[in-house]
Amino acid sequence: MSYETLIVETTDGVTLIRLNRPQALNALNSQLLSELSAALDVAEADAAVRCLVLTGSDRAFAAGADIKEMSTKTYAQMFEQDFFGASARRIEQFRKPIIAAVSGYALGGGCELAMLCDFIIASESAKFGQPEINLGVAPGIGGTQRLTRFVGKSKAMEMILTGRMMDSAEAERSGLVSRVVANDKLIEEAMTAATKIAGQSPLAVKMNKELVEAAYETTLATGVALERRLFHSLFAFDDQKEGMAAFIEKRKPDFKGS
Ligand code: CAA
Repeated sequence: MSYETLIVETTDGVTLIRLNRPQALNALNSQLLSELSAALDVAEADAAVRCLVLTGSDRAFAAGADIKEMSTKTYAQMFEQDFFGASARRIEQFRKPIIAAVSGYALGGGCELAMLCDFIIASESAKFGQPEINLGVAPGIGGTQRLTRFVGKSKAMEMILTGRMMDSAEAERSGLVSRVVANDKLIEEAMTAATKIAGQSPLAVKMNKELVEAAYETTLATGVALERRLFHSLFAFDDQKEGMAAFIEKRKPDFKGS
């Protein structure tokens, strides 16, 4: 499938998706979001794809939702079109891991898109922010909820009410990103992590992803009970027998996804 706003390539079980609207710092317009949903549909349906990396350019992961596209919209249009609803749900419901590899600006919808991914690896140049307040609006793809859960109320409230950006060191300190790497190592590091995931049992990967997500959706007791059930259920798969046999036999496991 070909895209105008994305560059998509798959190697060794990993699909790398680059947002590609350089003239607008990868601002998320309707075309980009619908192409991203289509690319996720393709990746979801292809058993050979085990993990995704989502990235932008050195200058911007994405500088937000496209302000020029939104500026003249009415409340009726935003509501009727469920603006951002379908694309956000598509990413939320994607079952394979997605790593956000962030350089430069990740602002507004760009920060929210990174937070919709399973984890974020940032380069030293990354800057995160929810500057919607400067436009007289609020985040619309989960920023008030996810940023608050990830970095805590005080920092989220300050960033959302003042529009202040966070640099990569602060983002790592506050738990928004898993780690910070040199600018020229970002894609290499993200691809290495993705390739590692791609070599694991795809069934165990999906269950682990669901379990970590559950930690944000449920109580501790319910989450722990769910974990125990899924942990037990993993013993129904050949991949568990293979993984444990390979450890005992001191060899690399060959997971088949069965
Ligand atoms: N939407 C549309 N176009 C954008 C854009 C956006 N979010 N961000 C940048 N661009 C465009 C600029 O208009 C400019 O285009 P022209 O050359 O045609 O004028 C081009 O990208 C380059 O941008 P700048 O000249 O502004 O670059 P800069 O280096 O001076 O500044 C920046 C970079 C600080 C990121 C600045 O572009 C900026 O503040 N962008 C807007 C950030 C923002 O407010 N994001 C939130 C959007 S609302 C949202 O996301 C709602 C939601 O939660 C869903």
